[in-house]
Amino acid sequence: MEGGQGSSLIDEVWKYGSTDDDIAKVIREGVPNSGMAPWKDVLDEEQTRGLIILIREQKQLAETTGILEKVKPLGGVFSTELHNFKLEKVTEVDDILWSIAFLPDQSILITQRNGKLWHVVYGQKTEVTGIPKVRNLGQGGLLEVAPHPNYKRNGWVYLSFSEDLGHKIDGKNASMTTVVRGRIKNNQWIDEEEIFRVPPKYHTTRSGHYGSRFIFKDEYLFFPIGDRQEEDSAQNLTVPHGKVHRIYHDGRIPEENPFYNTPGAYKSIWTYGNRNPQGLDMHPVTGDLWSTEHGPRGGDELNVIRPAINYGWPVITYGMNYDGTPWTDKTHMEGMEQPVFYWLPSIAVSGIDFYEGEKFSGWKNNLLVGGMASEEVQRLVIKDQKVVHRETILKKQGRVRDISTGPDGTIYVALNTRSPNSGTLYRFVPLEEPHWISLFNGRDLSGWEVRNGSSTVLVDNGTMAAFHQDSTSHTYLTTKKSYGDFILELDVKVVGDLNSGILFRGQSNPDLRNGKVHGYQMEIDQSDRQWTGGIYEEMGRGWLHSMKGKTDAQNAYRPSEWNHYRIEAIGSHFRIWINGVPSLNMVDQKTVEGVIGFQIQRLPKNGGGGAVYIRNIRIIADDAGNHIDGIAIPEQVIDEVAALEDL
Ligand code: HEM
Repeated sequence: MEGGQGSSLIDEVWKYGSTDDDIAKVIREGVPNSGMAPWKDVLDEEQTRGLIILIREQKQLAETTGILEKVKPLGGVFSTELHNFKLEKVTEVDDILWSIAFLPDQSILITQRNGKLWHVVYGQKTEVTGIPKVRNLGQGGLLEVAPHPNYKRNGWVYLSFSEDLGHKIDGKNASMTTVVRGRIKNNQWIDEEEIFRVPPKYHTTRSGHYGSRFIFKDEYLFFPIGDRQEEDSAQNLTVPHGKVHRIYHDGRIPEENPFYNTPGAYKSIWTYGNRNPQGLDMHPVTGDLWSTEHGPRGGDELNVIRPAINYGWPVITYGMNYDGTPWTDKTHMEGMEQPVFYWLPSIAVSGIDFYEGEKFSGWKNNLLVGGMASEEVQRLVIKDQKVVHRETILKKQGRVRDISTGPDGTIYVALNTRSPNSGTLYRFVPLEEPHWISLFNGRDLSGWEVRNGSSTVLVDNGTMAAFHQDSTSHTYLTTKKSYGDFILELDVKVVGDLNSGILFRGQSNPDLRNGKVHGYQMEIDQSDRQWTGGIYEEMGRGWLHSMKGKTDAQNAYRPSEWNHYRIEAIGSHFRIWINGVPSLNMVDQKTVEGVIGFQIQRLPKNGGGGAVYIRNIRIIADDAGNHIDGIAIPEQVIDEVAALEDL
């Protein structure tokens, strides 16, 4: 009801009139040139009337349930078998976004079907003016875009579009798919050359099945053209419809083409019997060309494209007519190729892409397939030209028109909505599980050392226990390794008359007080002032962040019990939580790297004693900045002048 190939039936917009009679007429007679089938042979008057009532009811329902508002792509986080990712919006256009192509400088070209070419740099889009005039009707408009493989040297960009050359049939405008190339200079389309333009006599009045996708392989350019909704033409070698074509990059036709010397045949034909292929890519290992094509209702196909092969449309198909009547009972025939795979029901297959990046390593060489009607991306694992596994990795985020691996290994996808048309370019960004490493094996002090003072440190049952027994110097229990950016989580219990702290980015310099350990120290304060969770700079500037007045965090600390701490140190930005309650959020530039450790203070002059217990110490030290909790805006900047440059 929200529209797909046809227009929405639940908004206010009626192209063919809004009275019951108008609607009944469209249902009965269809709109053949647009691909809306006539239903009069299938539905009687009563059923047609019933449908009109249903449409009216659904429209009312849509208005009250907000369906009309929800049709924008949503974004968010997605979990799949092998990778988790989020959708990140790159840019949007106010019509169908048809094709995505990458230039060597990592900027992007996208086509907007109603006739605009955009150059996207870091999400900012600029229109490229002066491109050819397209026939923006039905499924037609500005379609594929791709740079030449040697773009860096020659600057060529190829475009395909539906073109009206003024040819008329029975008074109706006719059109056909055309391919040109040109260069882009200062966002102007220049140096245009014709690459593939058929004589007007091959133009047809239908406004669907223009095919279109480009693959450059060796010195050739491959591209499909659909049957233009004149089914029988797909089997007719004298016309260009319903074929995959092969030409040279400059538009010349190779004499080795399979039907080059067949009398009357269209010389650029490479394969035939293709209904409407709109997905084409080359297998990264075998170099085979793979293509998806739209079936009628049911029977979307995945094919390996080989020369002179007849893919069978409209003689054999796994689909039927849109009105549910059979197209044919034949799915096989001698001399006609079987698809590698077919979708029943159809998903409305569009762009495809063999994943070639590193970011989604589990998907390497898998075929990603976009579905428009089903609003999904499927991942197909292919072995020996067979689909051995299939997974839906994106669902209900919009109609997927094109999908493409970006130069950085992320995956770009064109998601569209109808009524009104809009298109959004999204990027799949991998969300890997954070790589936690345990800093303490629970059995002994491997990886740790006791420094400065002489407090005893024991390990028992997964816990480190450090005892207060030195009267001359603080003792430090530190890692041997240094850490720069990290997220640290651990439990610490302090008992008795003892002040302690978690040292990070700790330093020891032989020239400074005999190598005494110093640096940032997250205070653990057993005293009544309750400054646990603040930062004191040992042997430095003293208190950088006290806890005065921070009552939520002060109350979160449980004296003499286990407390859970999380410390994030990302660049110059530090954040701390005590038992999940934020205690500190600040910027300081002084030290970028150092050891992690614990302070066991020297014995107080007036006697007393205590102990520090530590367990469950884990750290994310790789790529920690990508695993921080939420947006991090510092509340306090210590070293202001230096910090400004960094922020
Ligand atoms: C019983 C099922 C269907 C009903 C009741 C129905 C009804 C309609 C109606 C009332 C319109 C005119 C909308 C307007 O005036 O703006 C329309 C347009 C259209 N329908 Fe259907 N439709 C049905 C099935 C289909 C199917 C299966 C397809 C194609 C696969 C299709 C393709 C179209 C297209 C392409 C248009 C737009 C025509 C244009 O803009 O020129 N319809 N449909």
